[in-house]
Amino acid sequence: MALRNIVKEGDDILNKKCRPVTKFDKKLAVLLEDMAETMRKANGVGLAAPQVGILRRVVVVDIGEGLIELVNPKIIAFSGEQTGNEGCLSFPGQWGVVTRPDYVKLKAQDRNGEEFTIEGKELLARAFCHELDHLEGVVFKNIAEHMLTPEEIDEMNKE
Ligand code: CO
Repeated sequence: MALRNIVKEGDDILNKKCRPVTKFDKKLAVLLEDMAETMRKANGVGLAAPQVGILRRVVVVDIGEGLIELVNPKIIAFSGEQTGNEGCLSFPGQWGVVTRPDYVKLKAQDRNGEEFTIEGKELLARAFCHELDHLEGVVFKNIAEHMLTPEEIDEMNKE
């Protein structure tokens, strides 16, 4: 396993659409493991492949309840609404107010190509939506209703 460099704001790769994974090989397993390690080291709750420079539909999420690996994920159901602060490892120190569904259900494949479904509520739903957006070349800043000012970030950190 190895740490990968996280692509930062300004790199065009963050605005590109990712291609589906078709080969469930050792290379994919290594990518997933490297992404998980890179996410943890950066104290993130999610990371998408374009953030490490790979335009493939691969995501890892861990909100503290265990690692979730998603290959070729798709939202198949969603409901409700939540509005809250959101950040991104590619936009260090920046926060935006983003409205997301409060519940989502995904269909995805695991590292071996087996299909499964998974549900998420609240923070997990937000993380799924944020990471799946990355696969479409959409970053949270594109859809934030408002980016927090330095004063608002101070307030948030006090809470
Ligand atoms: Co992000």
